Amino acid sequence: MTAVNARAVEPYWVVVPAAGSGKRMGADKPKQYLPLLGKPLIVHTLQNILRWPGLAGVIVAIAADDSEFGNLAEASDPRIHTVTGGAERADSVLAALEYLSTLAEPDTSVLVHDAARPLVASNDIETLIGPASAAIALLAQPASDTVKRASAENGTAVVAETLPRDQIWLAQTPQKAPLQILKDSLQAGLRENPAAITDEASALELAGYRPQLIAACRTNFKITQPADLLLAEALLTQQRTQQGEPS
Ligand code: C5P
Repeated sequence: MTAVNARAVEPYWVVVPAAGSGKRMGADKPKQYLPLLGKPLIVHTLQNILRWPGLAGVIVAIAADDSEFGNLAEASDPRIHTVTGGAERADSVLAALEYLSTLAEPDTSVLVHDAARPLVASNDIETLIGPASAAIALLAQPASDTVKRASAENGTAVVAETLPRDQIWLAQTPQKAPLQILKDSLQAGLRENPAAITDEASALELAGYRPQLIAACRTNFKITQPADLLLAEALLTQQRTQQGEPS
């Protein structure tokens, strides 16, 4: 990443929720620790983050019974801090923000990025942290397929309606907001309507903010199912070949 001068970027913190169990993968360990080209998935994500220009530090939320994070080399990187996460993703993010409040000013910019997205593109990070983006913004992907809303009929899913595709975006991470605004919005959202808080933007929207959508590369998918790991391996191998690294 050479296009952005680190000194030209306002310093920001990154929060990485990594306290999930990853049940949809059906594996014997949480998905952030599944091997991807010989390294745990979360290591790829953290090594990517540690290259972002202007980074002040990273807070990783890990499960109370996590026995793996401490064994990673990244655990002793002085830029990386850990906190204990909570029952839902939003609880884990909030735990990290509460800890961050003891280290950073309330208006510090925070980027929340899933441990399970190792392939976010450096260009998209440059756009998100760059001067042209709003203070409250997220990476997202405009829908390319026709989008159907489903309803249930006789135990099967049927189309209830076709939604206007040009209004549909799929939210990714990082999602960016000032520390205090994000913390207050998540606290209020979890109090008022916890089921609706599935990302940071949903809490910010509920609090009356209108996050900016930044169109991002579709390689920034979240590893959720076993096939996603195969796809990520193929993309990482291709990236390494292009960069002349051994795969
Ligand atoms: O399960 P899902 O893919 O939506 O999780 C997204 C991210 O949130 C993952 O990195 C996961 O580890 C994290 N998470 C968390 N705390 C939870 C649940 C999920 O940090 N209680």
